[in-house]
Amino acid sequence: MAIERTLSIIKPDAVRRNLTGAIVARFESGGLRVAAQKRMRLSLAQAQAFYAVHAARPFFSSLCTFMSSGPVVVQVLEGENAVLRNREIMGATDPAKAAPGTIRKDFAESIEANSVHGSDAADTAAKEISFFFSELEIVG
Ligand code: CMP
Repeated sequence: MAIERTLSIIKPDAVRRNLTGAIVARFESGGLRVAAQKRMRLSLAQAQAFYAVHAARPFFSSLCTFMSSGPVVVQVLEGENAVLRNREIMGATDPAKAAPGTIRKDFAESIEANSVHGSDAADTAAKEISFFFSELEIVG
């Protein structure tokens, strides 16, 4: 299996509750390594640009307001089959449907404040990584 990279965001609800380390530990014990990481505060415009694919969805405005409501930690995670592996570690988008032992089951507050974002496919991952990081900032 090839080594892949995926984009991860630890969302404002989790950063606010000081869960960054606990969430990174889930990624690391799940076989992924942090190849890049930074803490930042997204502007509303940056959140809208990042989630542009969801612009027509009814939750778009609320989602972008939430994502710019406080600091986030953005990361490049690397490892075997990283896109799928990260999605397994995160669990389903809706924490009510997430499997036991997943980040969203254990930490998420709601379907919006669901603690983490992860790329949904390899091509999306490449676009999302380049939204936040230059190649020079990623050390696998
Ligand atoms: P994320 O993986 O970051 O991708 C889009 C986000 O929209 C999703 O996680 C949720 O935080 C948020 N969202 C809010 N409501 C919904 C919904 N009904 N369906 C899917 N995603 C939603």
